[in-house]
Amino acid sequence: MLMPSSHRVMQRLRTLAKIGAEANGGITRLAFTRQDEQARALVQTWMEEAGLQVHTDSVGNLCGRTTTTHGQQAVVMSGSHIDSVRHAGYLDGTLGVLAAIEVADAMNHSKHKWQRPLEVVAFAMEESSRFQCYAFGSKAMAGIPQADTLLGNCDDQGITLAAALCNVHHQKNDNETQQLQQARQHIQAAIRPQNSIHAFVELHIEQGPVLAAENIGIGLVTAIAAPIRLNITIHGMQNHSGTTPMHLRSDALTAAAALILTVESLCANSLDVRGTVATISNEPNIINAIPGMVQLGIDLRSGNSTERNSIHQVLGQHIKRMAEQRHVRIKQQVITQDEPVTMSPALLNNMEALANNSNIRHRRLASGAGHDAASISRIATHCGMIFIASKDGISHHPKESSNETDIAQGIELLHATLTALRLRDILHHVND
Ligand code: GLV
Ligand code: MN
Ligand code: MN
Repeated sequence: MLMPSSHRVMQRLRTLAKIGAEANGGITRLAFTRQDEQARALVQTWMEEAGLQVHTDSVGNLCGRTTTTHGQQAVVMSGSHIDSVRHAGYLDGTLGVLAAIEVADAMNHSKHKWQRPLEVVAFAMEESSRFQCYAFGSKAMAGIPQADTLLGNCDDQGITLAAALCNVHHQKNDNETQQLQQARQHIQAAIRPQNSIHAFVELHIEQGPVLAAENIGIGLVTAIAAPIRLNITIHGMQNHSGTTPMHLRSDALTAAAALILTVESLCANSLDVRGTVATISNEPNIINAIPGMVQLGIDLRSGNSTERNSIHQVLGQHIKRMAEQRHVRIKQQVITQDEPVTMSPALLNNMEALANNSNIRHRRLASGAGHDAASISRIATHCGMIFIASKDGISHHPKESSNETDIAQGIELLHATLTALRLRDILHHVND
């Protein structure tokens, strides 16, 4: 039996890392950019070499399917994403896609009579770095309604998500209304029916410190946290910095500073919620004027949506009070409000048994990061994730790294899990 080669996965990861590579060692491969397109073209050739039939769906999800099966039609799916944040490392998302291709190749060389087809997917735009919304491709596939305003979100060049999406189809259209309509149709056309996916298994780096702290290489994910994301606009009064007395100011930036510290202290006092004021823009941003307008991007995340929502509510009260005290106007726009999801307990039990069979040390843990698996869990009958320990818990940073031995064990477990899922209903063999 041909086994998947972690060595080839490592080699391909290094090759892929050259697309979008930066002088400081990081990678910037934002969704729907030239670099992203180049990376997809390369990944497509690897999918084809693995014997998969490849097509790109209407929102840009790159899908490779096995051609022959003997049994049922609901697919077993695995994959992740190949777009990146700004100044990223080389493992986030890419590892899960390349590991799935490697497993597909090994499976296509085996003599098993597969009962279910395998589909490997590189989901479009998992990262929010360009248009502020995340897991766009997998949400579209799962038919999850996305905010109406989403398609109008602009990148820092003023290009809308609708335009970027139409560009995937080489549709150029100066009429904004028609472009929005076309983009909506593309989103609609990507939806897969409920239960058309028997199981989805995503392999991903942990991106946090839990596994590394315990010197355990493999994590089995129990649940995936979800964010509320806010755009806050603070309107003050731009004025002369030399002449305006301190008590007569309406300074948008000092109000922003107070708000940033409030987010920090509200979340520091909570058990489960992480709050980050991650983006800021300041107008006019010149040395001799009081700032007149500030925009903040806030990410509030938790696996516990009740606690997260209550912090959001308290934050709203602070915002109201702050606006009065500081003589500014503060507008709040909710960009995303998603619900955390739990992974399938039966699949989790099965993966645990398979890990034990192969002497793979592991533990269960929840994911603080968002993943395509969270979307696909809405339509797949079973959904699970395998985490690989992240060195020093670092991610969304050029220093992101993991041990090759842990990666090899993760791929072995992915192979065993997908094999079991494609051959039989393993879920009947292990009690919940
Ligand atoms: C995905 O990268 C996230 O922001 O959790
Ligand atoms: Mn990421
Ligand atoms: Mn990721």
